[in-house]
Amino acid sequence: MFKAAIITASDKGYKGLREDLSGSCIKKILEEANYEVVSIDVLPDERNLIADKLIELSDKKIPLIFTTGGTGFSPRDNTPEATRDIIEKETPGISEAIRAYSLKITPRAMLSRATSGIRKQSLIINLPGSPKAVKECLDYILPTLDHGLKIML
Ligand code: MTE
Repeated sequence: MFKAAIITASDKGYKGLREDLSGSCIKKILEEANYEVVSIDVLPDERNLIADKLIELSDKKIPLIFTTGGTGFSPRDNTPEATRDIIEKETPGISEAIRAYSLKITPRAMLSRATSGIRKQSLIINLPGSPKAVKECLDYILPTLDHGLKIML
């Protein structure tokens, strides 16, 4: 059983103006897939805060870290930049696969700037912000991640 952590990037979620539905959705799906979810953090869309949290979680050697939200075109969407700030290796295939699959569902998937990569022994993957999108992306990638995590650790 791998440990996993979730970061929700949402100004409204952080201020308590919106319930963190996508964070809980990721948690539920991961637990059903036999991951142990050790934390869900709701952060504002601040590049430095997101990057610092990613460093903290990867220093703790959590093998799988998902972010949700902040991957689109809004001026406050900073999650891919925060992720790129701290990863040591890119894993472009994962984000390419998510986009390719998602494009079959909605052309708006082309608006996702999500990235992914490895820092230390943590795989970090950006997901979009809605529960619907999160479920679509996870259903597609989770069965394959297991193999990658075993090689990474
Ligand atoms: N991917 C999937 N699978 N399903 C979706 O509904 N929504 C898209 C895209 N990726 C979507 C998706 C939309 S509308 C946007 S704007 C981008 O993800 C970025 O989402 P974010 O700003 O919430 O991170």
